[in-house]
Amino acid sequence: MKKFFFALMVLATMGSTAMWAQWRLVDPRANVGLKDAYKDYFTIGVAVNQRNVSDEAQMALIMKEFNSVTAENDWKPGEIHPQEGVWNFEKADKIANFCRQNGIKMRGHCLCWHSQFADWMFTNKKGKPVKKEVFYERLREHIHTVVNRYKDVVYAWDVVNEAMADDGRPFDFVDGKLVKASPYRQSRHFKLCGDEFIAKAFEFAREADPDVLLFYNDYSCVDNGKRERIYEMVKKMKEAGVPIDGIGMQGHYNIYFPEEEQLEKAITRFKEIVKHINITELDLRTNTESGGQLMFSRGEAKPQAGYIATLQEDQYARLFKVFRKHADVIDNVTFWNLSDKDSWLGLGNHPLPIDENLKAKRSFQIIRDFDAAADKRVPKDDWVPNPMNQPGQEYPQVNSEGFARFRVEAPDAKSVIVSLGLGGRGGTVLRKDKDGVWTGTTEGPMDPGFHYYHLTIDGGVVNDPGTHNYFGSCRWESGIEIPAPDQDFYAWRKDIPHGNIQKVDFWSESTGKMQTCNVYLPDGYGKLVKGKNGKLTQERYPVLYLQHGWGENETSWPVQGKAGIIMDNLIADGKIKPFIVVMAYGLTNDFKFGTIGKFTAEEFEKLLIDELIPVIDKQFLTKPDKWNRAMAGLSMGGMETKLITLRRPEVFGYWGLLSGGTYMPEEIKDPKCVKYIFVGCGDKENPDGINKSVEALKAAGFNAEGLVSENTAHEFLTWRRCLYKMAQSLFK
Ligand code: XIL
Repeated sequence: MKKFFFALMVLATMGSTAMWAQWRLVDPRANVGLKDAYKDYFTIGVAVNQRNVSDEAQMALIMKEFNSVTAENDWKPGEIHPQEGVWNFEKADKIANFCRQNGIKMRGHCLCWHSQFADWMFTNKKGKPVKKEVFYERLREHIHTVVNRYKDVVYAWDVVNEAMADDGRPFDFVDGKLVKASPYRQSRHFKLCGDEFIAKAFEFAREADPDVLLFYNDYSCVDNGKRERIYEMVKKMKEAGVPIDGIGMQGHYNIYFPEEEQLEKAITRFKEIVKHINITELDLRTNTESGGQLMFSRGEAKPQAGYIATLQEDQYARLFKVFRKHADVIDNVTFWNLSDKDSWLGLGNHPLPIDENLKAKRSFQIIRDFDAAADKRVPKDDWVPNPMNQPGQEYPQVNSEGFARFRVEAPDAKSVIVSLGLGGRGGTVLRKDKDGVWTGTTEGPMDPGFHYYHLTIDGGVVNDPGTHNYFGSCRWESGIEIPAPDQDFYAWRKDIPHGNIQKVDFWSESTGKMQTCNVYLPDGYGKLVKGKNGKLTQERYPVLYLQHGWGENETSWPVQGKAGIIMDNLIADGKIKPFIVVMAYGLTNDFKFGTIGKFTAEEFEKLLIDELIPVIDKQFLTKPDKWNRAMAGLSMGGMETKLITLRRPEVFGYWGLLSGGTYMPEEIKDPKCVKYIFVGCGDKENPDGINKSVEALKAAGFNAEGLVSENTAHEFLTWRRCLYKMAQSLFK
């Protein structure tokens, strides 16, 4: 469906009017900073390098979107204090001064870590190991110096970083021997001091600044084992009076991991022992790697596949939803790097919401433009199988509010995405449930009516085996029907007479092929009736030529358009006199995008007027003249209708455009050549265009009518409603 909409967007931007404006990429909240969107929840931070604070554009971006800054590398002990008595403050100061000048507060990162550390602290001048007391003295001096220097601008320090062991390491390799794994990382710090170094580092930091928040920071906090090790360590330290205020969950995750439940479990567990949780280093790799250790996929920039971007957007959306839910304890979320170009993971991963050209990605917008009400929304539990399902299929299901939920069996798949989503999202990403089945629910209610969709399983596009197939987007798609308040007008009724739809194949000389159309014949067609002169005769009928859109064909109107049912209902209710509807393939599938400006509908005009109409008039009981012939079409079929009716007014006396542009009086040479004009679209399309067209046509003396369909976009409920209304004014 996304492809279909994109196509329409292209049609729209190049088409005759400003139709479909909503499909263009617009960012209505472009002026709202990320930090402002989250002002009631937590501060939003970013890790920066020297380039980020030297370049005007990047500095402006930081100031607009973020209200917390971390130095990515320039404050680490190894950078700032590489040897005894040697201090490199230049780069560190540059970042601090940028923040001071712009009123941004900083997370200090970090004071004591096994990596990028001031390793000279462990040895004496001769290179021999020092006693732990010497190490503590040096660490204390380091911590005091740095904390004091930046006291005015820092609100939180990562005092100790990554001191705990990872999951999946049953043994440690200590002094050449395998020993049962310790809960602690076997760092030089630990080997010299045991876990006392953790307590000391926090004590030194607290001495230096009694007010700043002090954090223990680590990655993979959502792993079951590591989560508990961190919990036990912090708990034990706090009970012993060590001044730990908070836990930093780094958050180097990926597009598949963690699940919300894992993340929640860690947050709620840590909440038992600390009042502050910061998400200190957020990024989402696009592979299955995670954690604080650099792995190997730091590849070159490759374009990011659409479905991967969707998975990333969804994962960002899910994680932020959890963060918002726990805003009582989470007071900062920091992205690890400003843009994909800066990412420590390399360009190949595209891990951040800002791309390598400093442009906000869709994931950025999704994070920023969250719907606070949706966070708490629980769909009503009155699910029923989608009416478009194949026999016996329970899924997909819809509820009375318009939510849809899906269930797909694909045991070995890595990802399953349903191409139906909200707010410009790429779709609904399903997750494997405990039975290994992929399930998921749309984020909110969908527009009422029919929607095409498909599944993307590990990048491959397939249909949902739950539903029947419907031709759209130049392929057979799955379909779902969301209950609409006015659904009775297209519901099949058992108590009324029904017409039928015939498939007619005919040879087309102009295209050198057999062509196909479907012909709706009303109930009573062909019956002998008494004529005016008392003789038995067969009634003849007017004909509506009704065209589908770009990716559709002759099956679209009769099947998903429900044209036959709508006609039966209108006739049974006495709202119209019976007429024939011809739904032919309109040659739209081969159309190449980017050439819409050159689209003339000349091929179809030839087929329609020189070949199809003569076939219909020969095979069926038609009234074969202009005042008994109408043409209408949806979307690209509307473009065909407009072009052909204006060029050949002698053929059609009634014209209709359904989300397919508008007529303006000055376009119509002879005002008497048309008896009725219909224009319509959904209220999520371009209702102004429709209203202006109707007004102008009426003012110029035309018999014109419009319809703006409520709560619908460029989809079939709009067009069903248009047909229902338009049909009542044809052939009068
Ligand atoms: C990373 C930096 O981003 C890289 O530039 C550097 O080469 C290695 O360190 N956990 C941390 C951060 O706490 O300090 C690390 O930063 C990423 C993992």
